[in-house]
Amino acid sequence: MDSVRGAASASWPPEAVHVEHFGADAQALAGERHPFELQLGRSGRTLQVPQDRSIADVLNGNGVPVVTSCREGVCGSCVTGVLEGRCDHRDVFLSDKERARGDRIMVCVSRASGPRLVLDL
Ligand code: FES
Repeated sequence: MDSVRGAASASWPPEAVHVEHFGADAQALAGERHPFELQLGRSGRTLQVPQDRSIADVLNGNGVPVVTSCREGVCGSCVTGVLEGRCDHRDVFLSDKERARGDRIMVCVSRASGPRLVLDL
């Protein structure tokens, strides 16, 4: 996949190259995890995300429903707006340009790269 994407990107602008994944990025999912604070921007609620749980699990476990499907960062069902904080993107759904913008996150697999993340929830 990386070879094909690299060859295509050498000939066309990045926004013209579309890639569809059928599985998670195992290397990204296995990366180091740390706990962080999750704030819900609309209600001001603050939740703690431990290193062994996903944002989606913490939200659903605290009565904040989040739609999920693949739970592997592939389908995009769980996309959630980000208001503050930097993301540790571990999905394969967002493009490099979208990741750089930092205004959306796949809460089933991605995490905060710092101590705090504020979501548009
Ligand atoms: S549930 Fe599929 S990307 Fe999160």
